[in-house]
Amino acid sequence: MEVVIVEDAAAGGETVAQSIAQLLRAKPDALLGVATGSTPGPVYRALTAKARAGEVDVSAARIAQLDEYVGLPAGHPESYRSVVLREVVAPLGLAEDAFMGPDGSAEDVRAACLAYDRALAEAGGVDLQLLGIGTDGHIGFNEPCSSLASRTRIKTLTEQTRVDNARFFDGDITQVPRHVITQGIGTILEARHLVLLATGENKADAVALAVEGPVASVVPASALQLHPHATVVVDEAAASKLKLADYFRATYAAKPDWQGL
Ligand code: PGA
Repeated sequence: MEVVIVEDAAAGGETVAQSIAQLLRAKPDALLGVATGSTPGPVYRALTAKARAGEVDVSAARIAQLDEYVGLPAGHPESYRSVVLREVVAPLGLAEDAFMGPDGSAEDVRAACLAYDRALAEAGGVDLQLLGIGTDGHIGFNEPCSSLASRTRIKTLTEQTRVDNARFFDGDITQVPRHVITQGIGTILEARHLVLLATGENKADAVALAVEGPVASVVPASALQLHPHATVVVDEAAASKLKLADYFRATYAAKPDWQGL
């Protein structure tokens, strides 16, 4: 995998947005897999700025959701559907039908998981999947020891993830759902380009394990090592535990500008 070390979160957002813009220039109707949480905000803001400045036409882009809480009422402001519509689809000026995601309020959640996995394939597959990383090494909501071959399915959140996400629910962990739908690791690995963005010192351990540790389901993000085109964009703080940081810096600095991520 390629590791790109940037100064801070804003630079990370700009770097990833440039890559998305480059993809959309080549393939205007690309299917972009988007992540939620705090980390990707700078990406969406930078991409929106590029679209508004006329640097890239996003009007044909399609958006796919990575994961979703189970059991929040439809339209709940913290459902990931609501978050993606608010933070990505609306700012980019896209119609709601440009967006696809799993139905976390479905009566039959298992059927909803299978249907979403199928829908992603029928849409031609994800071109670029943006990922965050949990402090426990998860990608999507694939918690430690998720099968590396897993498909979209229902998962139970770890206590750590519920603690981490309580900030979106007024700090009240009892409001954080226990169950989620997530694209499986096998599903995620089918995207043509994986871009994992991590910022902040609290991600440094998880990043080091994912990038420099063995491939192991106990660190789900280590599955990126199996992908032929995976890019890890980290700020200095999140890179602070990488033993090969200088090598990664030198390699990226030597890359021609036109090549992108
Ligand atoms: P965060 O979440 O961006 O809010 O830190 C990342 C994740 O849990 O995947």
